[in-house]
Amino acid sequence: MILVVGSINMDFVIEVDKLPQKGESVHGKNIRYIPGGKGANQAVAVKRLGADVALIGKVGEDVFGKDLRKFLENEKLDLSGLQTAPTSSGIAAINVDKSGDNTITIISGANGEVTPEFIEENINLVKESKVVISQFEIPDDAVEKLFALAKKDNKITILNPSPAKQISPKLFKNTDYLVVNETELALLSKMKVRSQKEIEIAAKLMHSKGPKAVVVTLGADGALTISGKETITTDGIKVKAVDTTAAGDCFVRAFAVQIEKGRNLKEALDFANQAAAISVQKMGASSSLPLLNEITS
Ligand code: RIB
Repeated sequence: MILVVGSINMDFVIEVDKLPQKGESVHGKNIRYIPGGKGANQAVAVKRLGADVALIGKVGEDVFGKDLRKFLENEKLDLSGLQTAPTSSGIAAINVDKSGDNTITIISGANGEVTPEFIEENINLVKESKVVISQFEIPDDAVEKLFALAKKDNKITILNPSPAKQISPKLFKNTDYLVVNETELALLSKMKVRSQKEIEIAAKLMHSKGPKAVVVTLGADGALTISGKETITTDGIKVKAVDTTAAGDCFVRAFAVQIEKGRNLKEALDFANQAAAISVQKMGASSSLPLLNEITS
């Protein structure tokens, strides 16, 4: 089983011709309410690839909380680690422009209530899983506790440190696979990542801090991975992007499913790259996550 611990949001997705710049107002064409959140997206995505998945997280007591719970129930995830907190649900305000690029603002709400104690209450789910995934839309101390418990039990851990912020040495040590995009890599390494050479140098620095492998997703340019002394490059797949929201989530889950199956790194990366290329061709986060037969057909 794969365990995902992370955020559950209601995404307010607004289509715009052009993303608003500082001080600018723009007209939106329409608004859609689509379940999202990096934790929920990754968990749903794993399930759609046919793997068993449990999600630990919290929704709020409001109407969105009810909708989000119903959505996750319909996706048939193990929700024994899902709780309703006496607060509002997580919200993401997302602008998507004509080329599929976006800006995202999140309000944590109930996601901020995922504490280390809550992780401990759900220790059985950690024990039952083979792979554990998390991101940075829940409190840092909860992610640290999760990975410490997971590594104590020899689980495979995958960290997607998004939205990017510094990673503690302890968390680095307990992370097997670190999956970042270029922006996250630049922030974490405090280095410029304008060329493949610079990306490789920054990724090697991250690798020296503990993870078995560092995967850098490069959007339309594929991915670059540092593992041991090896650099693996994965070519980009040219598609017409409609919305890049959750492409990273899609990549992480497809990668996790392959690692859980015991596939080698190159196979896992190629598969994840294909999955992410499919997801950017549809609008929305959870609504764009492909099924297994869409990737392998
Ligand atoms: O990665 C995409 C996700 O980021 C969105 O679904 C939004 O909820 C934010 O968490």
